[in-house]
Amino acid sequence: MTITQMQRKGALNIILFISCEWYNGDRSYGQSINPDMDVEDKMKKSLGSKTLLYPTPVWVVGTYDKDGKPNVMTIAWGGICCSKPPCVAISLRKETYSYENIMGKKAFTINIPSEEHAGQADYFGLVSGKNENKFAATGLTPIKSDVVDAPYVNEFSLILECKVIHTLEIGLHTQFIGEIIDVKADESVLNEQGLPDIEKVKPVIFTPETRNYHKVGAYLGAAFSIGRNVRK
Ligand SMILES: Cc1cc2nc3c(=O)[nH]c(=O)nc-3n(C[C@H](O)[C@H](O)[C@H](O)COP(=O)(O)O)c2cc1C
Repeated sequence: MTITQMQRKGALNIILFISCEWYNGDRSYGQSINPDMDVEDKMKKSLGSKTLLYPTPVWVVGTYDKDGKPNVMTIAWGGICCSKPPCVAISLRKETYSYENIMGKKAFTINIPSEEHAGQADYFGLVSGKNENKFAATGLTPIKSDVVDAPYVNEFSLILECKVIHTLEIGLHTQFIGEIIDVKADESVLNEQGLPDIEKVKPVIFTPETRNYHKVGAYLGAAFSIGRNVRK
C-alpha cells in the first residue's frame, strides 16, 4: 500500500469513526462499529448499471400475426404488476415479430414452459417468426384462446390469456401491460386447492448476464408466516 493510499484509508476510518459515534449517540440504534474494521474489505463490489436481477422468468409469449399465423417468442423481462385487475407486464423490442403482432391484436398469451420444454423455449428465443414457423418446426400445437385474440401452446401446462391495457415506451424495450382475462391449467399440475403446484409445473428460471437456465429449488417455508418470529 502506498503512503497516499494509507493516508486515504486513515482519513476514511476517522470519518467512519466520527459518524458512528454521532449515529450511536443514542445506543438504542445498535452497537458501535469498530473503527479499526477494514471498511474496504466490507464494501460491496460495484458491478455497474446492468439488468442483474435473479431470478427472471422464462415465458413464451403467444401471438397471431395479421394473417392469423400463430407465433411464439421467449421473454425474460416480465412479471406480475397488479393484483386488481390481475395484470402482467412484458417487455419486447420493436424489432421482434411478436411486437408487431401484439400492437395489431392487443392480446397475447403467456405460456409457462416446464423443464422438459426448456429446449423449445430456448429455440423460440433464437429465431424469429418473420423467418420461421416455430410451431411447425417444433411440432407443438397452437390453440386459439377462447377469451383473447392470441394462441397458446397446448403442450404447456399453465397459460395466462391477456388483453393489452397499457403500452409504455421505456427505451430499447416497450412494456405491454396485459390484463389476465383467464388462466388455463392442465388438471395434472393442480394441487388439492385447485391451484397450480410449482413442483408439478416445474417452471424454468433464467439468469441475466450469465445467460443460464435453472430449475426451481426446494420448498423453503410458508409466505406471510416464516417472518413472524424473526424479531431479536
Ligand atoms: C431466455 C431468453 C429471454 C429473452 N427475453 C427477451 C425479452 O424479455 N424481450 C425481448 O424483446 N426479447 C427477448 N428474447 C429474445 C427473443 O425471444 C428473440 O428476439 C426472438 O427471436 C423474437 O421472436 P419473434 O421475432 O418471433 O417475436 C429472449 C430470448 C431468450 C432465449
